[in-house]
Amino acid sequence: MPGCWKSVWRWRRASRRQAREYRTGSGVSLSKTEFIIANTVVQSTALLPEIQLHLASEDMPIWQMDDAAREAAGVPLPYWAFAWAGGQALARYCLDRPGTVAGKHVLDIGAGSGLEAIAARMAGAAVVEAVDTDPFAILAAELNAKLNNVEIETSTEDLIGQPGGRFGNWDLIMIGDLFFEQPLAKHLEAWLRGLLPTGVEVLIGDPQRTFMPRQGLEKLITYAVPTTSALEDSDLRNASVWRMVE
Ligand SMILES: C[S@@+](CC[C@H](N)C(=O)[O-])C[C@H]1O[C@@H](n2cnc3c(N)ncnc32)[C@H](O)[C@@H]1O
Repeated sequence: MPGCWKSVWRWRRASRRQAREYRTGSGVSLSKTEFIIANTVVQSTALLPEIQLHLASEDMPIWQMDDAAREAAGVPLPYWAFAWAGGQALARYCLDRPGTVAGKHVLDIGAGSGLEAIAARMAGAAVVEAVDTDPFAILAAELNAKLNNVEIETSTEDLIGQPGGRFGNWDLIMIGDLFFEQPLAKHLEAWLRGLLPTGVEVLIGDPQRTFMPRQGLEKLITYAVPTTSALEDSDLRNASVWRMVE
């Protein structure tokens, strides 16, 4: 326990320093990148041993900070520091069935750490756009792509509701664990359903979060995903990969 408190204090001092840097606007990207590196360790998950990611573990200060400390540092909730069960299922599916993505233009919405985007590129996708509205997530995804020697395109643009991306129309849209909040889930589902008639394929990796669509999905596979009990109230979650159907 004493060691734990020491690291919380170290993190708070670093947070205050970083908050000052964000305000002056000097070296913004560099300090966010440093923040990611300082609060994570490079590791793989049991389901995806071939992908290395900067991930936080339960005993790291990033999980112990309260809202005030996070606000002071200008750091949104660090979703990017965890490989969510739905994203892991989708990434595993791509790696095991490269035909799902090979040669395709893929969009990963709500990319977080970038694990699905990285898996899609490893499995032979031609272009992969990893999009997340959190700039920390995009930096983490870029760091993680480098770790795994793959190239991905990244953006913080909110593409939900848009007809296409910077690189043309998508063949496949991947959604890893994004149905955790009602307004976002509704908006996302309406947009995806509107795109289906254009021929785009939609794959969703999800452990059946509360706001996942209950209709118009075809289940492709289920994985038992080891998870962090502090986040999921369980150390194992069943997460499935679904195809959205008209
Ligand atoms: C639970 S995390 C999932 C991350 C990753 N897909 C995975 O499975 O590990 C959800 C992510 O969606 C992002 N997000 C929320 N709203 C978004 C939006 N409108 N467009 C893009 N990303 C969004 C959050 O910033 C967060 O990184």
